[in-house]
Amino acid sequence: MNLNKKTVRDVDVRGKRVLVRVDFNVPLDEKGTVTDDTRIVGALPTIKHLINEQARVILCSHLGRPKGKREPKYSLQPVAKRLGELLGAKVQFVGDCIGPEVEQAVGNLGAGEVLLLENVRFYAEEEKNDPDFARKLASLADVYVNDAFGTAHRAHASTEGVAHHLPAVAGFLIEAEIKSLGALLDPEHPFAAVIGGAKVSDKLVVLQKLLDKVDVLAIGGGMANTFLRALGYQTGKSLVQEEMIPAAEDLITRAREAGKELLLPLDVAVGNFFMADADKRIVPVNEIPEDWLVLDIGPMTVKRYAEAIKKARMVFWNGPMGVAEWPQFALGTLGMAEALSESDAFTVVGGGDSVAAVERTGLAGKMDHVSTGGGASLEFLEGKELPGISCLLDA
Ligand code: 3PG
Repeated sequence: MNLNKKTVRDVDVRGKRVLVRVDFNVPLDEKGTVTDDTRIVGALPTIKHLINEQARVILCSHLGRPKGKREPKYSLQPVAKRLGELLGAKVQFVGDCIGPEVEQAVGNLGAGEVLLLENVRFYAEEEKNDPDFARKLASLADVYVNDAFGTAHRAHASTEGVAHHLPAVAGFLIEAEIKSLGALLDPEHPFAAVIGGAKVSDKLVVLQKLLDKVDVLAIGGGMANTFLRALGYQTGKSLVQEEMIPAAEDLITRAREAGKELLLPLDVAVGNFFMADADKRIVPVNEIPEDWLVLDIGPMTVKRYAEAIKKARMVFWNGPMGVAEWPQFALGTLGMAEALSESDAFTVVGGGDSVAAVERTGLAGKMDHVSTGGGASLEFLEGKELPGISCLLDA
């Protein structure tokens, strides 16, 4: 995939209607308040640039997975409010993304003004990349900017289809993501990757691809249990993907043959129940009690992984090391966030859960790059073509 794309700097947007696909798929609480605005903040540079250039800024996004139905809990209206606060400017909102009401709102939009359209996934045509729907969206604008890195792995109407009808360029967020994640594809050594999360099956391809590039691959989170089983340890009542044990064995063998360090937990924090206030014990991996579950990596493991991070020149981290929302099982994840924040290496954090975890620690600002992409950042590192990027004009 050619990653050298034209950006919003390369097109004349003055006075023009610019359709910007952003990823405003952000978490909302029951009152409809945005609880993590990382992705909105990520889109600000592009939006501010367009405002400065006196463009008529038309933003569109999805939120959640409403599957083609109009569901109030997936409305983007609360996001318009948060964006307005962050911009310090009024953000208009229209309750649809195509049709006469939207055409009128766009027609009334002044130079330098911002309009957010309603959730594009209220139409089933969005995810089907329906050409007619894409044409209708495109007809609202003169230029298309994609800045939705988090959704760039989806070939949907608003991420890919519209690019067939308008001059299509990258926004500054996509540009920054390509630069930072792209650096990991041709890494400086030593390169360490720390990968966590619940399931090996979600991360298998990226683990295989990363193994070719890294010097050290450290594994934590629920998926480490499957690797521990592959090494013959008993893991009590812990989550284990039995069917993935052969794949874990294969990775361990491949790492050994390639002379790469594959680090697995030396000790773990176990709980007697899957509960935030379960009793907790720290045990070596060969002493996991039969009726207990692994809920975090242990302190010796944190120290070992932190040493590897300290020696590295590049570090990629994806996925929590334990149940990071529960304070007593968050220490492994916190330990990784601290190790990355203290490292002189080029540090990149990718993936939804690890970003939330790093935000909770307050250390996000100390990382070189915190990706707004979950699945997108993994697919990027897997070397897959991302339709939301490949559809943009080459520089
Ligand atoms: C994400 O949160 O990873 C993106 O917004 C994409 O959402 P999706 O997985 O529902 O397509």
